[in-house]
Amino acid sequence: MEATLKDRFGRKIEYLRLSVTDRCDLRCSYCLPKGHKSFKEPESWLNFDETARLARLFVNNGVKRIRLTGGEPLMRRNLEDLAARLSELSGLEDLSLSTNATLLDQHAEKLKTSGVNRINISLDSLDSARIRELTGRDVLGKIISGIDAARAAGFDMIKINMVVLAGVNEHEIEKMADFCINRELVLRLIERMPMGETGRRQGFFDLQPVRQSLAEKFGLVPAVLPGGGPAHYLQSLDGKFSIGFITPISQHFCESCNRVRLGVDGTLYLCLGQEDKFEFRSLLRSGANEDALQHALATAMELKPERHEFRESPEKIIRFMSATGG
Ligand code: GTP
Ligand code: 5AD
Ligand code: SF4
Repeated sequence: MEATLKDRFGRKIEYLRLSVTDRCDLRCSYCLPKGHKSFKEPESWLNFDETARLARLFVNNGVKRIRLTGGEPLMRRNLEDLAARLSELSGLEDLSLSTNATLLDQHAEKLKTSGVNRINISLDSLDSARIRELTGRDVLGKIISGIDAARAAGFDMIKINMVVLAGVNEHEIEKMADFCINRELVLRLIERMPMGETGRRQGFFDLQPVRQSLAEKFGLVPAVLPGGGPAHYLQSLDGKFSIGFITPISQHFCESCNRVRLGVDGTLYLCLGQEDKFEFRSLLRSGANEDALQHALATAMELKPERHEFRESPEKIIRFMSATGG
């Protein structure tokens, strides 16, 4: 019988988001604290043997998708070596990466040959001054080179993640859509979640009216696109324009949650919006055998909460997004 990993609410967990670093070369205001400098010490980071061992445990228990995240995953040295090891796990069907793309031009081809099959890229604006303002660096040109390198390397269905911020980039949605249509990319609009001390009092930009008006204006109909995440998609009848909506605040999707997150230090986070966690590092480093790890995984699953409370308790302090890469 095929292994499945279920939580207390009967949800099947089949997607592991694997953070390989908490470092990032950008300073996006909604992701990292202002003036952030001190990152966790690498001694606490799992090495690739430890990471691959845990990944195998998850895949043996029914996880079918692994997404590499950060911080910025391409900041982790030799990431392709890890990707190659993961891509060989029997039972894994989808190995993907979420990146800010500033380093992607040097990595796209190597990632593809290492078995990464899908890439999602953060890009909030096409205005270089706004990108500088949002990320703290002048990187629009690098990001676009990264996107083009990913297209040239042959990744299909590259998705662009745009966190829509009221009064900042909301008026750029159609321009971003044009950019994506011209480059055969899928644009996804995202409501900002109040993680860490990153503007939790600024509210969020409700994407429901945007969804409705884009659907009417361009005659879009619901569509299903490759991926295992929370986005809902619309598509034009000729299939040339696809757009996704990730609406954790206006319409959360926790009842169909299928994922957990492993931090670079071996902490398993059971929900993006809650602090419930389970520490695997000490177990791994104290010589735990496979049975002990299996038992630990079952214990961890019991801790998965029902849902986030971003809307009801936006003041609740949750770790920064950079700890798990979204
Ligand atoms: P696909 O497999 O391509 O569907 O990937 P994905 O959309 O799951 O991953 P990606 O890293 O591109 O994340 C896009 C956005 O969705 C980010 O803002 C994430 O923080 C958010 N997101 C992903 N998973 C969850 C989740 O479980 N809960 C919430 N609230 N947000 C999530
Ligand atoms: N709310 C919503 N999405 C976020 N991301 C980073 N921080 C937040 C936040 N506070 C997104 C990034 C990236 C993805 C993995 O997570 O834009 O594309
Ligand atoms: Fe799952 Fe938590 Fe995300 Fe909801 S917020 S979809 S429960 S990880």
